Amino acid sequence: MQAAISTEKIREDFPILKRKVRNNKTLVYLDNAATTQKPVQVINAISDYYLNHNSNIHRAVHALAEEATEAYETTRNKVAQFLNIKDTQEIIFVRGTTEAINLVAYAWGRQNVKQGDIVVTTEYEHHSNIVPWQLLTQEMGAKLEYIGMDDDGKLILDQLDTYLATGKVKLVAVSHMSNVLGTITDIDDVVSRCKKAGVKVLVDGAQSVPHMKVDVSAMGCDFFAFSAHKMLGPTGVGILWAKKEILENMVPFHGGGDMIREVHKYETTWNDLPYKFEAGTPNIADVIGFAAALDYLNNLGMDFVRQHEIELTKYALEKLSKIKGMKLYGTSDMSRRGGVISFNFADIHPHDLATIIDEDGIAIRSGHHCAQVLMERLDVAATSRASFYIYNTKEEVDILVNSLHRAARLFKLE
Ligand code: ALA
Repeated sequence: MQAAISTEKIREDFPILKRKVRNNKTLVYLDNAATTQKPVQVINAISDYYLNHNSNIHRAVHALAEEATEAYETTRNKVAQFLNIKDTQEIIFVRGTTEAINLVAYAWGRQNVKQGDIVVTTEYEHHSNIVPWQLLTQEMGAKLEYIGMDDDGKLILDQLDTYLATGKVKLVAVSHMSNVLGTITDIDDVVSRCKKAGVKVLVDGAQSVPHMKVDVSAMGCDFFAFSAHKMLGPTGVGILWAKKEILENMVPFHGGGDMIREVHKYETTWNDLPYKFEAGTPNIADVIGFAAALDYLNNLGMDFVRQHEIELTKYALEKLSKIKGMKLYGTSDMSRRGGVISFNFADIHPHDLATIIDEDGIAIRSGHHCAQVLMERLDVAATSRASFYIYNTKEEVDILVNSLHRAARLFKLE
């Protein structure tokens, strides 16, 4: 599939990609699963807000307040369109995926998960979809269970049925795409199994929304969370979506300004949705900047984004698999995999490897990737990870491959 603009043209919107880093080498940025770079359109939108419209929102009646409020609410409308969400009252701005999941664990979890109940997650979750559930289940005397993963990096969903059959499961919290293996979860299958059992589903979309077309309404889950900074937007902005009746029955997460209707000495009534969950002055500038990121991706088309990453990932997997001593993780079935490649190279420690290839200007992530449960399952302490986005090229994959050969020579493997 062809985008309206070429990768070369896309790269012009990202001045940072022209930067020289170590040894005067041009940056090869392959750490997009951690955070993506920002196009000038996003940077300009943030700067325009501070230069021309800076004001608090939802409070004053002066011109700047009205402009800032309108721009902030425009982002909410754009998020709704981007994910096919019908009701903007169901869209809550938070700091990121982590805060969204914690909000659900505190505000919904403490009301709905009781002693003896079960929360189910998976072996390939990020810590942000594990630790909040550990805190919740430990506090409530409930149990946390894990859906295991096969050697191809796919979930063994029949294990979910075993948990559901107990009649004690209150929530299944699952990542839409693994940040380490790139595995795309079969959410339709998860949701259909859970719905038959009357169990709620939370989907962590931090790694999926930036890379593929996602239709939250069609998905049929109950909670959906993702972050702006992994999809060209600023840090400090995330979205929690949940069904309205669930949000209406939930207690607030944070108390403070804007989330109230009336405050008296000993009691308070709550504002309407979504403001009931947006206490205090929010991250106005960055929410406004996020709209420019959504416009940018809409302009490219999410089908193009996905196709571009499939091509790059296939190319990279093929090249990497030819390197002697290379261990690649995750499935080779590209219909079930995003643009993330985790690997280990002979017995070179991932941190050493990342340091060596950084000398060639290449940015990858090394370590446990906030997924230590998965590292245990893979029986490794760490991996190296290259992750792609719209501006990456096959030439950059070649630079990575050449750099890995240089590392092999340094370690006398070649
Ligand atoms: N969740 C981010 C990553 O996978 C930080 O790198």
